[in-house]
Amino acid sequence: MEIVVFTGAGISAESGIKTFRDSGGLWEEHSIYDVATPEAWEKDPQLVLRFYNDRRKQMESVIPNTAHKELVELERSHNVSIITQNVDDLHERAGSSNVLHLHGELKMARSTGDESLLYDYTGKSIEFGENCEKGYQLRPHVVWFGEMVPNLVLAENIASKADVFIVVGSSLQVYPAAGLIHATPPHCRYFYIDPKAEPINGIANLNIIKEKASTGVPKLASELAKL
Ligand code: APR
Repeated sequence: MEIVVFTGAGISAESGIKTFRDSGGLWEEHSIYDVATPEAWEKDPQLVLRFYNDRRKQMESVIPNTAHKELVELERSHNVSIITQNVDDLHERAGSSNVLHLHGELKMARSTGDESLLYDYTGKSIEFGENCEKGYQLRPHVVWFGEMVPNLVLAENIASKADVFIVVGSSLQVYPAAGLIHATPPHCRYFYIDPKAEPINGIANLNIIKEKASTGVPKLASELAKL
């Protein structure tokens, strides 16, 4: 069975990483327009770098939680693909084999002049004036609002083969990522694990599990492992 798990900030919340849109979330403390758009980068790259350097440092201080680990266990019984909107590396550190990042990876730096040039910045900060080997300023390897989502086609291809599609911890407010569920085949079964999960337009047979990831994911995973 092909299981596709689409994760958002909520799966990492119990590891200690703030979500974006919950009360006390990142977009309450910071304006998207100051730190997460190409215009913000043009206007004040140092502020943008500081924001993501802080995020990277914080990510490195936390560890995967039960939900991340249960998705690794599920690989014993099924083919599991994870498509994440998260820029953290907690799925990889938990041990998941197939992880596709839709919105980039916090641990990587990317050249502003050649997007194929990526550098592992684990344990490091990207500084203003720090350039790639071709002499262009480095930027965070994250997808900002208003930018293309390069991995979208790959993600749609993965979703198109899903027998089961599980959403974990996402408000489904941000497109095109939130529309990925509609790339699934007609026979697909759907689950949505999130304390604030609501019906999704166009998905008739959605199983809503209004729970935190740390309890909802293990319960569903143990049911799916029996199939
Ligand atoms: N377990 C499961 N879900 C949780 C938990 C938890 N412990 N805590 C919070 N949540 C849920 C919230 O109910 C909410 O629906 O996580 C969701 C977080 O929503 P957002 O903050 O909007 O995060 P996300 O959906 O991942 O955002 C999408 O927006 O700013 C961009 O690029 C950023 O990838 C991000 C995208």
